[in-house]
Amino acid sequence: MVNSIQIPVRDFCYRGVRARRSRLITRRQLLEGGLAATGGLAVLGAGHLRAEAEDQNPWARLADKTASYGAVRPPSFARALPIPPVKRPTRTGPQGDEIDLVLCPGSGQPLPGAATPILGFDGIWPGPTILATRGRPTLVTVKNGLGESANVHNHGHHAPATSDGHPLHTIKPGESRLYTYPNNQTGGTYWYHDHTFGLTGAHLFRGLGALYIIRDPAEDALGLPTGEHDVPILIQDRLFDANNGLEYTVDAGTTFTGVLGNTLCANGVHTPFFQVAARRYRFRFVNGANSRNLRLALGNGDPIVQIASDGSLLSAPLIQTSVELAASERADCIIDFGRLKTGSSVVLRNLDPTWPELPDVLRFDVVRRENDESRVPERLADVPRIPEHEAVKKHRRLRFQLADGKWTINGLRYDPARIDFRVKLGTTEIWEIENGEQTQMHPFHQHMVPFQVLDINGAPPPPAHRGWKDSVAIPPAGRARLIMRFYDYTGTYVFHCHKLEHEDHAMMLQQEVVA
Ligand code: C2O
Ligand code: CU
Ligand code: CU
Repeated sequence: MVNSIQIPVRDFCYRGVRARRSRLITRRQLLEGGLAATGGLAVLGAGHLRAEAEDQNPWARLADKTASYGAVRPPSFARALPIPPVKRPTRTGPQGDEIDLVLCPGSGQPLPGAATPILGFDGIWPGPTILATRGRPTLVTVKNGLGESANVHNHGHHAPATSDGHPLHTIKPGESRLYTYPNNQTGGTYWYHDHTFGLTGAHLFRGLGALYIIRDPAEDALGLPTGEHDVPILIQDRLFDANNGLEYTVDAGTTFTGVLGNTLCANGVHTPFFQVAARRYRFRFVNGANSRNLRLALGNGDPIVQIASDGSLLSAPLIQTSVELAASERADCIIDFGRLKTGSSVVLRNLDPTWPELPDVLRFDVVRRENDESRVPERLADVPRIPEHEAVKKHRRLRFQLADGKWTINGLRYDPARIDFRVKLGTTEIWEIENGEQTQMHPFHQHMVPFQVLDINGAPPPPAHRGWKDSVAIPPAGRARLIMRFYDYTGTYVFHCHKLEHEDHAMMLQQEVVA
């Protein structure tokens, strides 16, 4: 077996689980699959060839899938980046902007050839971008035109519990539900997706995800790029079958790692190109993957200037060589193409080493010069730190871990009939999130209120995590302390790992906020 190669997933740090979680495939299979060309595969030598059930093994299926593309992996940069349409209010009344959305099957064109059946908000993937204004409510009536129950969760939204898209608050086929979004929170990039009990991963994978942007009139004064120079980009890896159908499988392997695809799609198209003018742009990058991490960087080594994390501006712009996004995190970034010549291109790369490596996100093609009056001021927003002494509960410990082979928090799997604990409205708490798992990180996500990161593994958080956050990666065998204020609404809200196959099976608990 000299010709076998062991494929590691490098989001994991392996020790102890290598034998169980990897697969030996032959070099010939790899070459046929075009995998060798992706580079960087660690050749760990021949060894312990173990027979193991295919359904235990996500890599088997991934390798087979990749092989099925044969020499023709989907070509990169073949199609233009689509910009999802902006959803216009149907009515604008004293209570706010009213919007009608319908959940229905549709089709997309992520790959050349056959169209891909999807489930979409308004039948498209990504769904339409909802544009809201801070302080002015948006009322969204969602009709379910699917053959199965589904719902909508506005990720990062500070909403009453009845509008939060609790996993049990689903909309039956043919029925409708009204979601009220007050938009009383920081302006920024949010996103909405299905949150059906046990099916969130499947539904998001099939297309039920889109951006929700809150515009803050106060932000307009900053002079950041706007209009067509403010571009939403939903990044998601996907796995397709031979007919370009989305292939989503839950088994022991994918439940362990989260579902990983072998193509990277931006706004529903595999590795597109985007024509830009030689000037500044604001990109709203959303990691809408079910599980995959992203590390975004420009192929020419130019810096990316991050201005917002999750839904809020940072206090000051942050010059970075790469931007890390765990599943569900967002980063608003300014990229300045001003120094580039017309006719040149720069690729937005994904440097994250998770296997299979998907190194290209999209390509920016500079096609014209343009006058640029935008700026990036040195001060963006006030982000007052929540003082630790404000917390009435200083050590709420939540341990994300495997227990009896199942994903749990504090040993518990999600049970919608159980309230895991109560928090008092109007109080502040410090949560200590612990990752009991050596092999992978878990992106923690809280509903209802944003939080601030006090520390990660005992050290101050990186600058990109010093704004308001609603999701944060807890490193393997690591811990983070988060501080949050529970304000405005009582009711039951979930929190969970945002690797959606972990969340669905069932690394999620719920808190009740009580008066
Ligand atoms: Cu993005 Cu509970 O969800
Ligand atoms: Cu959420
Ligand atoms: Cu997890």
